[in-house]
Amino acid sequence: MRQINRRQFLAVAALTGLASACGSDPVPAADPAGFRTEVRVPPLLKPSRGEDGTLTFALTMRRGRSELLPGGPVETWGFNGPYLGPTIRAARGDNVRMKVTNRLAEASTVHWHGMRLPAEMDGGPHQQVEPGATWTPHWTVDQPATTSWYHPHPHGATARHVYRGLAGMFIVDDGPSGLPSRYGVDDIPLILQDKVLDPAPDPLKGTFGILGDHMLVNGTYRGVVNVRTERVRFRVLNGSNARMYHLTFGDNRAFHVVGGDAGLLAAPVEVDRVSLTPGERVELVVAFTAGEQVMLRTASGSDDIDEGDHDLVKIVTAPSLSASPPLPARLPGAPAPIVVPPQATVRRFRLNGHDAINGKEMDMSRIDEVVPAGAVEIWEIENTVYAHNFHIHEVAFQVLDVDGTKPAPWTAGHKDTVYVPPKSTVRLAVQFGDFTDPKTPYMYHCHILRHEDSGMMGQFVIVQPGTEGQVSRTIPVHHHP
Ligand code: C2O
Ligand code: CU
Ligand code: CU
Repeated sequence: MRQINRRQFLAVAALTGLASACGSDPVPAADPAGFRTEVRVPPLLKPSRGEDGTLTFALTMRRGRSELLPGGPVETWGFNGPYLGPTIRAARGDNVRMKVTNRLAEASTVHWHGMRLPAEMDGGPHQQVEPGATWTPHWTVDQPATTSWYHPHPHGATARHVYRGLAGMFIVDDGPSGLPSRYGVDDIPLILQDKVLDPAPDPLKGTFGILGDHMLVNGTYRGVVNVRTERVRFRVLNGSNARMYHLTFGDNRAFHVVGGDAGLLAAPVEVDRVSLTPGERVELVVAFTAGEQVMLRTASGSDDIDEGDHDLVKIVTAPSLSASPPLPARLPGAPAPIVVPPQATVRRFRLNGHDAINGKEMDMSRIDEVVPAGAVEIWEIENTVYAHNFHIHEVAFQVLDVDGTKPAPWTAGHKDTVYVPPKSTVRLAVQFGDFTDPKTPYMYHCHILRHEDSGMMGQFVIVQPGTEGQVSRTIPVHHHP
């Protein structure tokens, strides 16, 4: 490459948006003393509206540099900026179109985790975006209000791409909920990630891959969230590669869970602790008093992926708080319970070691399961040795039981990712969608990214009911490294 001087570089960078300093939303430099820097709130991505009303959201995957931890900047990747991505917000009924441009030096994909959409638009490992290319999936948002997210899904490289920083939130609105909803004011995203000091760790090392002891919230290390209202809704996403969080407040205060991965709960549930494995989301409403400070923490557990007590973020409230609407007794917009028909199909999945399901590693050319459109099925996930979780694309499910015991009320709503503790069996009532495509699969997998990348993943297609027997179990794979 031709040598260029700094001034020429800055001129080019300003034009192309390459330098992190020129990004629209720079990551604040890490403060070694800590808990003073305001936590960055990812900006809302403004769509452009076409003549037919279609909302187009533009995302560019790019490289940058960020000082995530004290000690100087490191190479990071982000959407439209050096680290993480903007928040996409759309409402049920919107026709959306994503313009995803890959400015990385290697192929990637962007998966809309939690969105109900046709398999071709899903952004799994089959929808690869080559360097320099633009991919434009589109669909009609038709699902209950949710906190979803987006992240890369290139087979074998998801752990590295997500760890570098490629992830963002995707909020779906569906009518008034009575909950706080002013983004960044009383409706605040919290993306939880753990990092190690090594700027380029091996994401596939050890049993679980990367487990860090430096905690970031929205890319901010030891930050502060300033609260100005009596109640705040936090949309919490576990965007970590492997870590499970057990969230509590420093004073063990009670708070309410109002939603899970795939929708609101029918009514708020009071708790003083929630657990979250990678990929899971939870919506909380927390009450505050004026002039207080309280830490949001994660407590250590006993499952290897939850080692260590860590402070995540300090919440500091203003000397006087503006009034919030009362917490609704029922939450309008919560999805109806999933009803399992008497003759429901039961499928069993055994998680083996850290790289296989039912004895098989992921094969992009193999269709593992064929599901009729609109079905409600029982999926039984049996775990053997290590901690795992289980995520299914496209669907919403409810946990029927864990080793025969009903789930705690706060985790009994609609979900798409669930913790499967070692040596236990989780039974799910899974509601599949109506988009059929016998040639393009959706994924199910452990969302511990080291496991997903090593092959703990399978593929299913959704087809016209009655045509299951005619589906080819092998598909061509267009995959060039
Ligand atoms: Cu969030 Cu298949 O993943
Ligand atoms: Cu997904
Ligand atoms: Cu796993």
